[in-house]
Amino acid sequence: IIYDIVALAIGYLLGSIPFGLLLTRVAGTTDLRAIGSGNIGATNVLRTGRKDLAAATLLLDALKGAAAALIGASLSPEGGMIAGLAAFIGHIAPVWLQFKGGKGVATFLGVLFGLSWPAALIFCAVWLSAAALWRYSSLGALTASATAPLVLFMLGHRAEAFVVAAMAAIVFYRHRENIARLRAGTETRIGQKA
Ligand code: G3P
Repeated sequence: IIYDIVALAIGYLLGSIPFGLLLTRVAGTTDLRAIGSGNIGATNVLRTGRKDLAAATLLLDALKGAAAALIGASLSPEGGMIAGLAAFIGHIAPVWLQFKGGKGVATFLGVLFGLSWPAALIFCAVWLSAAALWRYSSLGALTASATAPLVLFMLGHRAEAFVVAAMAAIVFYRHRENIARLRAGTETRIGQKA
């Protein structure tokens, strides 16, 4: 149990590093909170016009999730799931930002990678195809997140499927404004300036 608590703490601390906010502040771009969706994730970093920073945000937010899941897995059998879930929560509700963090998609992908890399590759394929098809980052993320628990289940990772299903539900909840905009036809498309 002590290893599980350590996994939880490491996961949360890693997950709570807001890379999008840090990178754009260091680079001195427009304040993320003031543009587009106001979110701290890679999609909104892209709306500053800095593709390089958006790519770095996506990579680092995913890497922290993968690192948490892998470190957790090295501590105890269930540690990967505990630290992964904690990293995901850390990204969404970081103590450093009064618990107002991001939507969790990149970190979700990273955690998935740490739990089962084939499931993560399928997530990427679904995300990219859906985003290419509809040109909405949010819709791509929602489609891929909804598919991930099913993929894990089919690969025989039942406990992981359960944890990732809970994460997917939180992703949907965090995208409720995006979902409302998608339904109203007012969601910003990829490549469209905020
Ligand atoms: O991962 C976040 C993405 O799905 C939507 O981002 O900034 O358009 O709300 P945003």
